[in-house]
Amino acid sequence: MTSPLARGEAPGKIILFGEHAVVYGRPAIAAPVTQVQARAHILPASTCTVEAIDLHQQVEVARAPADDPFALMVNLVCHALQRPLPPWRIVITSDIPIAAGLGSGAAISAAIARAMLAGFNARLTDETISALIYEVEKLHHGTPSGIDNTVVVYGRPVWFVRGREPEPFAVARPIPLLIADTGAPSPTKIAVGDVRRAWEREPVRFEALFDAVADIARQARAVIEEGTILALGPLMNANQELLARMGLSSPELDRLIQAALGAGAAGAKLSGAGRGGNMIALVTEETAEEVAEALRAAGAVRIIPTTILPAPAT
Ligand code: MEV
Repeated sequence: MTSPLARGEAPGKIILFGEHAVVYGRPAIAAPVTQVQARAHILPASTCTVEAIDLHQQVEVARAPADDPFALMVNLVCHALQRPLPPWRIVITSDIPIAAGLGSGAAISAAIARAMLAGFNARLTDETISALIYEVEKLHHGTPSGIDNTVVVYGRPVWFVRGREPEPFAVARPIPLLIADTGAPSPTKIAVGDVRRAWEREPVRFEALFDAVADIARQARAVIEEGTILALGPLMNANQELLARMGLSSPELDRLIQAALGAGAAGAKLSGAGRGGNMIALVTEETAEEVAEALRAAGAVRIIPTTILPAPAT
């Protein structure tokens, strides 16, 4: 087998606090999930193609429609580096579930960008790479906040406000979580579009909900910086309640959340766009196994244990 000319990878992500409200300028907290990864490798070829093995998709970049996310990413990187399309077969693999709130689209774009940079032996700043991916994210849903591209590129927990540089902040103690997949796909575009229409219909109610989410995110940041991690539990539950009032929960999510809380999780909420996809539960070493068991019994199709690790504020 020909060995690859270059490789790139990027993690999945979870949103701990503030999804949806972040689209409307409120702060959110997100963290990378390194247990799942999107990867790209580059093989020599006669034309530039992108092949997504798990998605059974293959596209020749020069002939792709303008709204093809893979081809757009390749074109954006070439444009930023002022290089012509290279004769490469860019092969993507990913174990990040699609349309599940774990940032699979942004991670695939980041993996393509990183592999291409390695292949060209070139550099772009994280800020530029994130901005390029943001252009592709707009195809996935029209009004992305930019949180997904930011967290997968920076690869550390971020305090994010739309349109601003992400603010790294201190994580004083490990935050052990279980991520559980309802198995119900939920394209971000649909959930984000529905929230927009609801906000247009009832702006005062939705602005108040977004403000309440922002308040929870601010409290959560203080808790994470202090390291009183179990105090995040009630904040997660309160954030979930507000998301449910925005119409973003689902019977599957509610079932998993109730199961986790019933088995001793300190808090639980949906993560990402909602309506399906993944939920997160805050656990301890003592409760993790029982909560995982309860999630499985309640229908979780996949459980990913992850820990957000202590990190300084820089
Ligand atoms: C998706 O991961 C998070 C949302 O808040 C959308 C966005 O921020 O672009 C639902």
